[in-house]
Amino acid sequence: MAKILLLPGDGIGPEVLAAARIVLDRIAACAGLAFRYEEALIGGAAIERHGVPLPDATLTAARAADAVLLGAVGGPQWNDLPGPRRPEAGLLALRAGLGLYANLRPIRVRTSTVAATPLRPEIARGTDMLFVRELTGGLYFGAKRRDAEAAEDVCCYTRDEIARVVRRAAALARARRGKLTLIDKANVLETSRLWRAVTGEIIGADYADLDFEILLVDAAAMYLMTRPRDFDVIVTENLFGDILTDEASVLAGSIGLIGSASLGDGRRGLYEPVHGSAPDIAGQGIANPLGMIESVAMMLELGFDRPEEAALVREAVDAVLAQGVRSHDLGGDATTMAIATVVADRLSEIRESRHDADRIAH
Ligand code: IPM
Ligand code: MG
Repeated sequence: MAKILLLPGDGIGPEVLAAARIVLDRIAACAGLAFRYEEALIGGAAIERHGVPLPDATLTAARAADAVLLGAVGGPQWNDLPGPRRPEAGLLALRAGLGLYANLRPIRVRTSTVAATPLRPEIARGTDMLFVRELTGGLYFGAKRRDAEAAEDVCCYTRDEIARVVRRAAALARARRGKLTLIDKANVLETSRLWRAVTGEIIGADYADLDFEILLVDAAAMYLMTRPRDFDVIVTENLFGDILTDEASVLAGSIGLIGSASLGDGRRGLYEPVHGSAPDIAGQGIANPLGMIESVAMMLELGFDRPEEAALVREAVDAVLAQGVRSHDLGGDATTMAIATVVADRLSEIRESRHDADRIAH
């Protein structure tokens, strides 16, 4: 039986994960999928119990699982800890420990929520892009040093680290609309010049069919807001990907809608929403669970090879949003659990109506 490790984490993490479980349980029941669940600590919750943000037992359990679902980590109570002991360090160590170098973050603008973007709707409408963020290199993982007078974060990328994530992005682009954008800062950074060289070689040799473009990160930040529909798959290094995906989430109406998958060479992935732990609203039951639910859909599709079930989850979410159900971040008052319940019910309805249609057709 497939094993899923649940890592609720901090802030709204446990709330959105509990909500996503409702949807996951429903789809599993509908599709006859059986999962075994285990739960472990990460982030601030792990610091409180074990003094470290990623206990060995958590990493061991993650390695033994077929997929990992994570809520969020971090909170103001841990802000004064030294870097390696902060909650975020636990997440970074998990990503690195599982070898998850490719972070897929789809940004899709739905007609039903386009009005929620602060941009003009005609700019955001129809946007459908996929970020492939490098996740285990760059400034996040380079040598760090600090004293009273100076501090240093080293940015380092190897040819192999670049090549594997670029290949992943290029393959995804080929399966979508065939466009790939590399975002870098090659006019200033040596690492970006290596990214450009390696990416150019790979595209030239194996992906010449793609419509390939390169943008500097400052200009790209602007184009994401001025002509977002022009993007299909975007590949970029770790820090640029972190920043640009928060920016691009604005197009969708709320970061609370965005899910992600972190993948390596094996089948086991880590699935987590792009939003953080939102300590300001934690414990109130008002967090948007849809980013976590989209992460569940990504897990079904990419981790368990169940594209139809993933599509069904997404269809149910689309229907619920189209019906006007809105959480706090989208200007509504539906609770976290209420949203998960309507999504689960909608999913059952859609499935049953398909069955009826099949029966009539036969
Ligand atoms: C994200 C988050 C993390 C990151 C933090 C929590 C370490 O912002 O997943 O985007 O910077 O990668
Ligand atoms: Mg981020």
